[in-house]
Amino acid sequence: MCRHHFGEDDGAAMDVSQAREVLPTNVKPVHYDLTLEPDFDKFTYEGKVVIDLDVAEDTSSISLNTNELKIHSTTVSSGKQVISSSPDVSYNEDTQTTKVSFKDTIPAGSKATLTQTFTGTLNDNMAGFYRSSFKAEDGSTTYMATTQMEPTDARRAFPCFDEPALKSEFTITLIADKKMTCLSNMDVSSEKEVDSAITGGKRKAVTFNKTPLMSTYLLAFVVGELNCIETSSFRVPVRVYAPKDRDIEHGRFSLELAAKTLDFYEKKFDSKFPLPKMDMIAIPDFSAGAMENWGLVTYRVVDLLIDEKVSSAATKQRVAETVQHELAHQWFGNLVTMDFWDGLWLNEGFATWMSWYSCNVFYPDWKVWEGYVTDNLASALSLDSLRSSHPIEVPVKRADEINQIFDAISYSKGSCVLRMISKYLGEDTFMEGIRRYLKKHAYGNTQTGDLWAALSDVSGKDVEKVMDIWTKRVGFPVVTVTEDPSANSIHVKQNRFLRTADVKPEEDQTLFPVFLGLRTSEGVDEELALLSREADFKIKDMDFFKLNADHSGLYRTSYSPERLRKLGVAAKNGLLTVEDRAGMIADAGALAASGYQKTSGILSLLDSFKSEPAFVVWQEITSRISVLRSAWMFEEEAVRGALKQFQLDLTKDKAHELGWKFKDSDGHIEQQFKGMMFGSAGVAKDEAIVKAAFDMFNKFKSGNSSAIHPNLRGSVYAIALSNGGKEEYEVVLDQALHAKTSDERNTALRALGRAKSPELIQRTLALSLSDDVKGQDIYLPISALRTHPEGIDALWNWVKENWGELERRLPPSLSMLSSVVSITTSSFTHDEQRKAIEDFFAKKSTKGFDKALAQSCDAIRAKAAWIKRDSEDVKDWLKDHGYLQ
Ligand code: BES
Ligand code: ZN
Repeated sequence: MCRHHFGEDDGAAMDVSQAREVLPTNVKPVHYDLTLEPDFDKFTYEGKVVIDLDVAEDTSSISLNTNELKIHSTTVSSGKQVISSSPDVSYNEDTQTTKVSFKDTIPAGSKATLTQTFTGTLNDNMAGFYRSSFKAEDGSTTYMATTQMEPTDARRAFPCFDEPALKSEFTITLIADKKMTCLSNMDVSSEKEVDSAITGGKRKAVTFNKTPLMSTYLLAFVVGELNCIETSSFRVPVRVYAPKDRDIEHGRFSLELAAKTLDFYEKKFDSKFPLPKMDMIAIPDFSAGAMENWGLVTYRVVDLLIDEKVSSAATKQRVAETVQHELAHQWFGNLVTMDFWDGLWLNEGFATWMSWYSCNVFYPDWKVWEGYVTDNLASALSLDSLRSSHPIEVPVKRADEINQIFDAISYSKGSCVLRMISKYLGEDTFMEGIRRYLKKHAYGNTQTGDLWAALSDVSGKDVEKVMDIWTKRVGFPVVTVTEDPSANSIHVKQNRFLRTADVKPEEDQTLFPVFLGLRTSEGVDEELALLSREADFKIKDMDFFKLNADHSGLYRTSYSPERLRKLGVAAKNGLLTVEDRAGMIADAGALAASGYQKTSGILSLLDSFKSEPAFVVWQEITSRISVLRSAWMFEEEAVRGALKQFQLDLTKDKAHELGWKFKDSDGHIEQQFKGMMFGSAGVAKDEAIVKAAFDMFNKFKSGNSSAIHPNLRGSVYAIALSNGGKEEYEVVLDQALHAKTSDERNTALRALGRAKSPELIQRTLALSLSDDVKGQDIYLPISALRTHPEGIDALWNWVKENWGELERRLPPSLSMLSSVVSITTSSFTHDEQRKAIEDFFAKKSTKGFDKALAQSCDAIRAKAAWIKRDSEDVKDWLKDHGYLQ
């Protein structure tokens, strides 16, 4: 191996600390005493906060964060002395700060107290202290109050120093009607009867024990009429709460899993869960999937509650993943916290990695690591192949910027970087490093370097040296392999990979430390690394070799067509793992889409995988054909038909071999496999499957609620809607509105867009903004419209016509506007279409979704170039194989 230095400074790495917009450091909060009383008639709440401060510098003003709060009174005191009971209070909307100025100076080294009373809005934007609703048995709407603080909405709930590094202790009191359950991060310390400031009558005041030192974004308060189940199988009580309209028994799976997972994590992290209880609650209106508030994790209903009788295997896996992800944060994120939002990946990358790690322990038969390649690795490489991607550590300061980095880079690329280093160091050493990091920084804040330092300490390797570039620079390389059989060696060279295939020299300066993971007949060499632009490596037996064993590295590998064919044979001969096979197809597909190889090559490769036995590899095969078909979405009908026929030929034998009958003995993977192949061959119009789908659908329609197996439900709806008409639409719509569980309703909502007639398209669009669909679910009905050109065009017209309303309903400080923009623009494939999108937004503020928009446009550019390049190549291949005249 050659030793070159790498990562010479080309000026592209950023100094993240410079861009921060932070509060002045003259005071530091140490304790908050916060009282809140919601008013469910006016949808407001009355609040009082008493903040104890350490004064670090001579102080005559205090700045803290507030947002849309009406402040009634402010008092500043120091010791027993009131410094000012009517200080000057001014507001800066841009930085969301309130500045309290007074005449006297509080000297450095002393203590001060800031007291404010205020009124806030129990808003319906799912941010801060907000309202959520459900229907009671008698049909009336019942409200609850709940919170979502991350990233910067604690300041919407109460005046606070709203930065992750300003950890403090909190004593919370909630005042509510006696029938309400009040929850917060801690357990209850006292409950008293008080006179309500709102009703004038009696209410209860529930005070919770003081929290440990923690960040504001992890606070949570809930007031509502709730049911609860509890287990004592963990050291401290674990509970699941849900609104009264739900069957609380649907929380049983998550409850048991949470108790087991907490126990597992305590041992793995060698660190006791520090809180006196763990509550998890389903919230009917929730913007994300779940939120890791310390001791009180909030969830979207479908991510916590599950009725195993009516839900698919995939849904169950998603629930398990979500629970284990949020519980991993209780240590990684909550106990040890990134010092600012540019370190978000530490939180999200680790929790993602850890949820896979623990799912693998609890459900070994799910083989989740195999699926990692088609899930996190695929989304990381997909987003990071765009010019408009960003480094894992990216400077962010404003709320609308911070929200936009909760993306595939922080989650998926972040977790891939950890997977890479864990393989390089070995998982046990990696975990030892994690324990060291948690111990050293408990109740504190960290930067990425602190994690690398802990891993270096335990491994004796210079981890920062090999990892720094992966988090500080955007993108990843394509590694091109050329062979010299006479010298028994391969030559490997790295270059920046862009999906648009138009890398400029200045964009190709970063040299990534690439772990080559060389697989030969002798096993895998995990140590081998490419630390320079290019190098030669000896291989004993050139008959069989493959780079990036198990695809634990973040790069694409480009082989010669001849080598790719040999790898296809090696796959059949059992020399490659599932990850290798899926990853190899993914690489070949991505390289074809971006012009490094010909598309005909990937078509032949897919064709040669017909006898593949593994589910995950088929996931990759079907996703590759979908990617191709969606790029060809607006091309000639004949070619599109031929591609569909190819999909059918590719999938039908497997689909028929597996069948679509389910037995109790079917494993978790088998269930998903059957469902997926049925769907893929079915939407490509396999006759027997279409007929079977309609049989099930019609039985279901006439009242047999179990006629469609949960693993087939989405596909059966899709087939019925794309081949049927209004009658089928009514059936699915009825399910979308009235099915018993949220999961069943979502499956139906998600399918509606498959219907193609202009009238039904308009109904689907109208539905998404109607009162029948909650704001949290807007993306569901519109998503499937992207499966046909009529839908894509209609979506875009709808966005243009309803832009004002969308902006109003989905404020840019939240992430939903971003998803809607991405869903409604990214499916186009031609440059004129892209220009129309750019023109529309040219005159508008793109605050809150500028990243999503740029990524959509880049994705369209890439597809347009792909079609231009390979349209003839694809046609020729289809002709040669009898799919096209
Ligand atoms: N911390 C996030 C929740 C979040 C997301 C807060 C975006 C603010 C903005 C939470 O830990 C999370 O990552 N939730 C995921 C679920 C998980 C299984 C990937 C989610 O919401 O999808
Ligand atoms: Zn998370």
